[in-house]
Amino acid sequence: MPALPACKHTPRPYSGPSRSEVLALRRAHLTPALTTYYKEPLMVVEGHMQWLFDETGRRYLDCLGGIVTVSVGHSHPAVIAAMHAQIDLLVHSTTIYLHPNVSQFGQRLIATFPKDSGLEVVYFTNSGSEANELALLMARLSTGNHDFIALRNAYHGMTNQAMGLSGLATWKQPLPQALGVRHARCPDRLRGAWGYNDPDAGRKYAEDVADLIRFGTTGAVAGFIAEPIQGVGGFIEMPPGYLQHVYSAVRGAGGVCISDEVQTGFGRTGETFWGFEQHGVTPEIVTVAKSIGNGAPLAACITTRKIAESMTKRLHFNTYGGNPVSAAAGMATLDVIEREGVQKHAADVGGHFKAGLRKLMERHAIVGDVRGKGLLLGIEFVKDRASMEPSGPRCAFVHERARELGLLAGKGGISGQVLRMAPPMCLSREDCDFALAVLDQCLTEAASCQF
Ligand SMILES: Cc1ncc(COP(=O)(O)O)c(C=O)c1O
Repeated sequence: MPALPACKHTPRPYSGPSRSEVLALRRAHLTPALTTYYKEPLMVVEGHMQWLFDETGRRYLDCLGGIVTVSVGHSHPAVIAAMHAQIDLLVHSTTIYLHPNVSQFGQRLIATFPKDSGLEVVYFTNSGSEANELALLMARLSTGNHDFIALRNAYHGMTNQAMGLSGLATWKQPLPQALGVRHARCPDRLRGAWGYNDPDAGRKYAEDVADLIRFGTTGAVAGFIAEPIQGVGGFIEMPPGYLQHVYSAVRGAGGVCISDEVQTGFGRTGETFWGFEQHGVTPEIVTVAKSIGNGAPLAACITTRKIAESMTKRLHFNTYGGNPVSAAAGMATLDVIEREGVQKHAADVGGHFKAGLRKLMERHAIVGDVRGKGLLLGIEFVKDRASMEPSGPRCAFVHERARELGLLAGKGGISGQVLRMAPPMCLSREDCDFALAVLDQCLTEAASCQF
């Protein structure tokens, strides 16, 4: 069993209800619509940077970072201190009053976007779903158009409109949702018509959006939304050139372009602070959540002043959006990202991690693909390389077994065939080597199992 890298943090003794009591309470009193990872659900009671601790004090390397949420480390001391300081003063106020944190954080957030982007005003929300609802609303109000394009295999949240934007049957409740939204083909170079070796794949996949506008809409669209790397869909990267061609087709039909940066933002992909910057495009609207608050409930929809003004004909309000404690967490998180060179670290450690995963792929035939950027990395499992048939069961086996060996990861893809790694960005090279050793063992064991 690979040895966990050392950690100086000693967890506090846990004295609360046992794991089985909590499980029984949850089964009795929480909705059965909730799902848990693992055959024996894991209870976590403490976190420190890249580590999570269960009730027995056992330590796990959190390679999922909450769910791509903990950007700079669980209970990072600087973020916690800023939250404590604000909690002592005032926990709650809304935007009907002025509060320095909320306005200052707006200014700080805007400063992270390219100077000439035109992205200049923020609407704070509590969740990525709400941010995407706003983005869709503003796209429609500002253009006067209704038809809208999203991508198959995308995930944009679970409110009704965000569910409608999502393009995965597994995440769509069987009810009408998002009237007017059409889903274009996912530009998946592993499984689609044009592969990684085709330098023109981006333009070819983008043709489908132009086609959809021509044949599946009124010809005038409100906009288009995409994640630069699809998260829940299994870390599918938009091919080079794709977004440029799509943005131009969408703008040609009167629409605006939205980049859902809920998983790709805040330097996680290493090369740039925002995912869209790697594609030579500038969206009119950007939605962010998760990493923005290092785990505090905070999200935002950022756009141009002109587009935001389209909402001023009616009242609009969000009770917790722009909360002073969450804004304090957001500012402190940005401070850490800047001060500790987190983006550069994500590029460096992520490159090391990806190179290690590629080496594993050379030796393990059930790995069909390794992809992603920075610290947003996925492994796609297949039955074998000849058929390339996606294999959810192999991924589930590795996911479960990795937990037993001290490594927590995520799952994604329509059949749960992708193991997802998006750890807190304080992950070290030594931690990567531990994760790689665990995965090596799990992959070896998986090869001799009957699925
Ligand atoms: C890309 C993307 N957009 C939007 C959302 C929705 O965010 P939330 O769960 O905060 O509503 C998610 C959540 O996983 C996401 O991954």
